[in-house]
Amino acid sequence: MPKISIPQLQERKRTGEPIVMVTAYDYATARAIERAGVDMVLVGDSGAQVHLGHPTTAEVTTEELLVLAAAVSRGTDTAFLVCDVAFGTTEESDAQAVATAVRFVKEARADAVKLEGGNAAKLSRIRAIVAAGIPVVGHVGLTPQTATALGGLRAQGRTGASAARVVEEALGVQEAGAFCVVVEAVPTEVTAVLREVLDIPVIGIGAGPAEGQVLVVDDLLGITEGRTAKFVRAFGSIGDDTVAAISAYAADVRSGAFPGAEHQYAAGEGAVAAARAAATRVLGA
Ligand code: KIV
Repeated sequence: MPKISIPQLQERKRTGEPIVMVTAYDYATARAIERAGVDMVLVGDSGAQVHLGHPTTAEVTTEELLVLAAAVSRGTDTAFLVCDVAFGTTEESDAQAVATAVRFVKEARADAVKLEGGNAAKLSRIRAIVAAGIPVVGHVGLTPQTATALGGLRAQGRTGASAARVVEEALGVQEAGAFCVVVEAVPTEVTAVLREVLDIPVIGIGAGPAEGQVLVVDDLLGITEGRTAKFVRAFGSIGDDTVAAISAYAADVRSGAFPGAEHQYAAGEGAVAAARAAATRVLGA
């Protein structure tokens, strides 16, 4: 099957067929996502936290994201591959933004890059990247890279001023040339307005029903430890399964139950005698 295209993704806004998007940070997960028939894969900068152990997404570098993105790319056939750009790698100038986006295309075969925010500077970056021929996904509402300036990791668009800002930024992102927009942690009613006024598809995360949905793969698999955001649903319990499997392995190694006879190779005729003779030669009689 060929890779899903931007026109096909945009057509979903008209047909109503939901766009399914999931994050991935490694080859094995990308393969599983392909087998599950997902439309879009996002190498999110959330990988900073869930795979690299950084405290926030702001610490991650382009080099780190490129390693994750290239691995995901090698496991991706039909899903549309979007890569987040790291905080601080587009903020200085349009030229810096284009250079960063080009690296994701050349070094990780990204189909598109995602940029957070919709202020005047960000719209200029989106325009420049699109003009360079690289598709862009926008991201408005809660934008974790700049969460401190937003007052923390909290829902946006709950007051009149905040809702107006979310809508203005989403319209700006569309006007700048993004072909779809991720909307994070905003009230369902504000998402409904966005869906009405935007021509491009809205992909929600904590934003209620939308043309598409995205979740962090570790959250949906039930790997993430501790409290997760209100909008997360775990569709599996892989974290507990992983702990159980590693604990069972450790117990069997300690008791001698592993490896069993079925996991062992048999020596051919003369191999043991030759091994002993070699040891005697090396160590001396
Ligand atoms: O980095 C990420 O995983 C994201 C999603 C939350 C949309 O940006």
